[in-house]
Amino acid sequence: MISHETKQRILDATRIEEVVGDFVSLKKRGANHIGCCPFHNEKTPSFYVSPSKGIFKCFGCGEAGDAVSFLMKHEHYTYPEALKWLAAKYNIAVEEEEMTPEAKEAKSERESLYNLTEFAQKWFVEILNHDETGQAVGLGYYHERGLTDEIIARFGLGYSPEAWQAFSDHALKSGYSKDMLEKTGLTIFKEDGKYYDRFRGRVTFPIYSISGRVLGWSCRILSKEKQAAKYVNSPDSAIYNKSHILYGLYQAKTAISKADKCYLVEGNLDVVSMHQSGVENTVASCGTSLTVEQVRLIKRYTQNVTIVYDSDAAGIKATQRAANMMFEEGMKVRCVLFPDGDDPDSYAQHNGSTALQKYLAEHEENYMLYKARITNMDIRRDPIRKSELLQDIINTIALVPDLMERTEYIAQCANIFNIPEQAMATSVARAIRNQKQKQWKQQQEAQAGQEAQSAEGQSQPAAPTESAQQSPQEAESMARVEEILQEAQHNEHYEKHIMELLVRSGNEKIMWPVPTADGKEEECDWDVASVIVNVLRRDGIELENPVYKKIYSIYEESLQHGTLPDSTFFTGLDDENVRNTAISLMIEPKELSPMWAEKGIGVPSERKRLQQDVKESLMSFRLRRLDQLLERNAKDLKEADDPELQMELMRERSVLMAQRLALGKDLRIVIG
Ligand code: CTP
Ligand code: MN
Repeated sequence: MISHETKQRILDATRIEEVVGDFVSLKKRGANHIGCCPFHNEKTPSFYVSPSKGIFKCFGCGEAGDAVSFLMKHEHYTYPEALKWLAAKYNIAVEEEEMTPEAKEAKSERESLYNLTEFAQKWFVEILNHDETGQAVGLGYYHERGLTDEIIARFGLGYSPEAWQAFSDHALKSGYSKDMLEKTGLTIFKEDGKYYDRFRGRVTFPIYSISGRVLGWSCRILSKEKQAAKYVNSPDSAIYNKSHILYGLYQAKTAISKADKCYLVEGNLDVVSMHQSGVENTVASCGTSLTVEQVRLIKRYTQNVTIVYDSDAAGIKATQRAANMMFEEGMKVRCVLFPDGDDPDSYAQHNGSTALQKYLAEHEENYMLYKARITNMDIRRDPIRKSELLQDIINTIALVPDLMERTEYIAQCANIFNIPEQAMATSVARAIRNQKQKQWKQQQEAQAGQEAQSAEGQSQPAAPTESAQQSPQEAESMARVEEILQEAQHNEHYEKHIMELLVRSGNEKIMWPVPTADGKEEECDWDVASVIVNVLRRDGIELENPVYKKIYSIYEESLQHGTLPDSTFFTGLDDENVRNTAISLMIEPKELSPMWAEKGIGVPSERKRLQQDVKESLMSFRLRRLDQLLERNAKDLKEADDPELQMELMRERSVLMAQRLALGKDLRIVIG
């Protein structure tokens, strides 16, 4: 369809960073641009765009390609559709052949739907601005609500006249098919052949895709008739999926990136009002309760969201639901409550733009602290429900994926509720365990469903996520690791735990997996000291505490000679520091992990418990170290200007990430 020359001109004009930049917030980093990958779920950017090479590559999920394949993958365009999109972006004329009826039919359904929505959108705006009733009724309504002509134009607001078939007849006369009118939902067809305009007598708020195409409308009634719905929305179609779209994102995306922050409001008019008041980084979920897809859509532009919902009971509930979803995605959540009965739109109407901006700035608070505050008030009012109310906030903290953040929230909340931090940390760890188990069950069910589907030959591989699938046993172990991690935040603690095991139980035997010649693995009898030294040596992990380091090297050396120091070895040492430390490691009482008692399944054998303890200590120790390495890698990346170095650091990053995912699995001993 498109000639070779035109194709070449399009590709020559295309700048990949501009194309990708329309969908992903990119930051310049040396010769490249980087951002969070839109093809998988990630919190730290591993998505690279190289302007000089004209390619993108994600080091997280491996997705890579050029501008055209980006559009095909991201917007689900066909190859010609992607080229046309680029041609439109770069103002390159594409020779449209004479449309035969067959060609018209062959044109993708989506393109026809877009043609119709574009046609309808123009008409609604035309009626608003140039039709007498349109001006009086539609424009009059917008003006009455305080909207300027400029903002009306920027949001493409229009009017659909109060007539049964005005639009439908106009569209049919212009050659658009009944089928398309029905599919876009613009016209409702009855069985008896009658039909009428879905949006008749309403002001029209178009819903745009991220790249600015009209997908559908959300239309508000003008009169105060109680029996009609306040809003009528377009149904989902081949081009419109309301749970994947945010109202206002097209107009807000640049401002969101720039401010590195997004306001989430409830209503269409709130979005328009906020923009008019100069708060352009504002979006709303399109008349649905917020979906995870919408949350991820925001996350492509920023991690920081401020929820500005109504402060009635329903609004507060919706805020909590939205906040939990965002925490789960690793985002930073804040909230603003308006005085009861006000929303951003009414507040701006009554008090003006400056007052609105001031109110937002002064009343924004960290969501977790807000939640802790109201929970605390509820507890005072109703002490009988204390544990239930506490559990609610504990569940919310447990959703926060980042350990450091979680630890901070635990400390803050423990302080607010006046309970020991340790108790709070343990409850959070338990909540994480429960959530993981639930998740695992759901994944299993989903997988079972998918396998059934793929048997019919139409499954697609799921997008990679950062949390690897875990069995209940692994989840259990990870939860225990979490507990250990929460117990103290210093290396000292992890090192001490390892050292206790080494000095106190180094000579004891446990079963440990060892790879066999045929690539499988088998469990063998090993002494604890050999297991610890082997696993740590393979990772190249060194202890930080100098005294522990000395004791550890005594074990390393002894093992090379095939012996192990016994308790009398340390008591007879000259180095007072080493002697005392070793002795205190030996004699400090150690409690039974509370998990065993809790689960009520009986205490396992001493040996089994020791084995579990060694496993968990090594896991938490490695996790801690990997997180430190990842942190340093992130810092290096931030400072690196040289593209080669950046690539190297990205490679290092993916290796570390992979190691982190394989944490529990990779504790086998490799001999030699
Ligand atoms: N909504 C809807 N269907 C309804 C009512 C509401 O889809 N019957 C959606 C709309 O997207 C609306 C949002 O929910 O924008 C919030 O509803 P509401 O606060 O009632 O509407 P506002 O947009 O604030 O409208 P107004 O200020 O004119 O009352
Ligand atoms: Mn409102």
